[in-house]
Amino acid sequence: MAERGIKNEVDVITIDGPSGSGKGTISRLLANRLGWHFLDSGALYRLVGLAATRHAIKFNDTSGLATLAAHLDVEFVSDEDGMETKIYLEGEEVTNTIRSEECGDDASKIAAVQAVRDSLFERQRAFSVAPGLVADGRDMGTVIFPGARLKVFLTASLEERATRRYKQLKEKGLNANLSALLEELSGRDERDRNRSSSPLVVADGAVTIDTSSMGIDEVVEKVSDLWQQVSA
Ligand code: DC
Repeated sequence: MAERGIKNEVDVITIDGPSGSGKGTISRLLANRLGWHFLDSGALYRLVGLAATRHAIKFNDTSGLATLAAHLDVEFVSDEDGMETKIYLEGEEVTNTIRSEECGDDASKIAAVQAVRDSLFERQRAFSVAPGLVADGRDMGTVIFPGARLKVFLTASLEERATRRYKQLKEKGLNANLSALLEELSGRDERDRNRSSSPLVVADGAVTIDTSSMGIDEVVEKVSDLWQQVSA
């Protein structure tokens, strides 16, 4: 196992923050602009949740969940321009399936299990391959890549995040209800921030950006500028 706290040999930018803060879109665009790899760590937790449900592993069966996470058969297949990634679980495409609020909520529950987090540690570290990695999640800057040269914490008001999630779900043709989303997001925030294992906190040295009234391009520009500064 890589020693925790080890300095990354490959350049890494970590983008952490709560659900709906824009992390996913910003991280992917940034990775694309830099020609780097992209880690959507939330997808891994969503996949463990989905696999657990499919294999009838209960969420309180911590050793069952940890074994499942350690042997999870997943594949991320990106298209040529790196803007779309198809996700396969045990050979079946689940790209849209894992984006449902139910999968997000299940992910948040199993993500509180330390043994699951341990099982996914090496898998996430393995994404840091040259020329660089943009890593999106909750504990990228605190636990998985504490040696990253640039750490960003993206945030936005609960209302703004719920509205964005509502639009995203609608665009994907999935069911969405704004007031239910507000409730779910605030419950998930609460769980992600207050769990004892790798809670969502601002990493030491991270730059916090409130994206509530910023456009996507503006945020990407800002993070790119920050990277230019630290890498100059
Ligand atoms: O980013 P997301 O909404 O896809 O993440 C789903 C859940 O997974 C989130 O509520 C908390 C958990 N998660 C985590 O605990 N650590 C990460 N690095 C990424 C996600």
